[in-house]
Amino acid sequence: VRTVKVPLAERSYDILIGPQLLKDLPKYCQSLQLGTRCSIITDSHVGPRYADDLKSSLHQAGYKPDVVTVRAGEKSKGIRTVDYCYDALSLHHLERRSFVIALGGGVVGDLAGFVAATYLRGIPFIQVPTTLLSQVDSSVGGKTGINLRAGKNLVGAFYQPRLVVCDSGTLRTLPRREYVAGIAEVIKYGIIYDASFFNYVEKNMPKILKRDPKILAFVVARCCEIKSEVVGQDETESGTRAILNFGHTIGHAIEAISGYGRYLHGEAISIGQVLATRLSKEVKGLAESDVSRITKVFAAAGLPTKAHISAPMQKRLFDAMRHDKKVSDGEIKFVLAKKIGAVEYGVKVPEETISQLLNS
Ligand code: NAD
Ligand code: GLY
Repeated sequence: VRTVKVPLAERSYDILIGPQLLKDLPKYCQSLQLGTRCSIITDSHVGPRYADDLKSSLHQAGYKPDVVTVRAGEKSKGIRTVDYCYDALSLHHLERRSFVIALGGGVVGDLAGFVAATYLRGIPFIQVPTTLLSQVDSSVGGKTGINLRAGKNLVGAFYQPRLVVCDSGTLRTLPRREYVAGIAEVIKYGIIYDASFFNYVEKNMPKILKRDPKILAFVVARCCEIKSEVVGQDETESGTRAILNFGHTIGHAIEAISGYGRYLHGEAISIGQVLATRLSKEVKGLAESDVSRITKVFAAAGLPTKAHISAPMQKRLFDAMRHDKKVSDGEIKFVLAKKIGAVEYGVKVPEETISQLLNS
């Protein structure tokens, strides 16, 4: 088992990474000295595969678990599902020391984390991420929340889990398209923080695509280490945490204008990262050789690297970018790369430069 620590003073916690960790979850819960009642929040794809075994092992260890299943998909990250979960938690008589287990991908993690952050003004929660994207990104760092009609993740709380358990075995049942989408976040860590990790991902892409367990354990652990270092420096994104948003300004806007569904999040931010890379060449003088390596590594994963955006869609794209949470004083700000492994955040880019790039 690999352990990565997230250093946040009294809110510090461990991320455990390895195969078949799910069966040991009760043992890890015991070390956290939580109450006995708990609710496993999961979704309709993950629950049937993993929730029953988890429930019975918790039961055998003396816990009183209940399973709350929401419909799989982004639509469950909304206020109605939150209400449904609150009712389920109160029917199961959860108390202040009781806890929530988020068993699923980023949708379940964000939703269950938000429910835990707000139920009884906050009860402990454990993240058990089951997608590549949630193991390397969303389960770590304490961003929880839901979507509004007006946009994604507009309501939420910074609320750290007490523990994150990444069972690499669960990734075997993940549909290929979802798995590949997670690789977009993996590549991101190399670009923003660690050139040698970028080289590693570039070299080992065929093995990553085959879900080779050894390679995967290293990849997930390295991504979690990087995220933990960044979050440890800036938990609430007043500065440096923004580097984690590389490719997300355009990526989120692409998701929004295509009606959330055409592209998975990882696919949209793959296109967004390639566009941000090309902007980096224009604005920060990023070398053409780096632009080419970055574009090729996304393509090697089987991720999209471009999208045709017509003139009317470009107008909507700019509107969506202006509505992003990362906008301040109405200015669209970007994370741009100076070289592979080093980025700068808060870079203002004139809209004409972005338009020229989209039309080139
Ligand atoms: P997801 O949770 O929708 O999971 C993708 C699909 O895979 C779903 O259909 C799910 O049921 C299924 N699934 C999950 N695990 C499985 C498994 N082991 N076997 C078979 N099927 C499985 O999507 P995601 O990509 O994990 O997460 C996307 C969400 O994460 C978005 O809402 C995004 O906003 C959020 N996110 C949050 C953060 C953060 O810091 N909190 C960061 C990045 C993304
Ligand atoms: N996924 C971006 C962040 O956690 O800050």
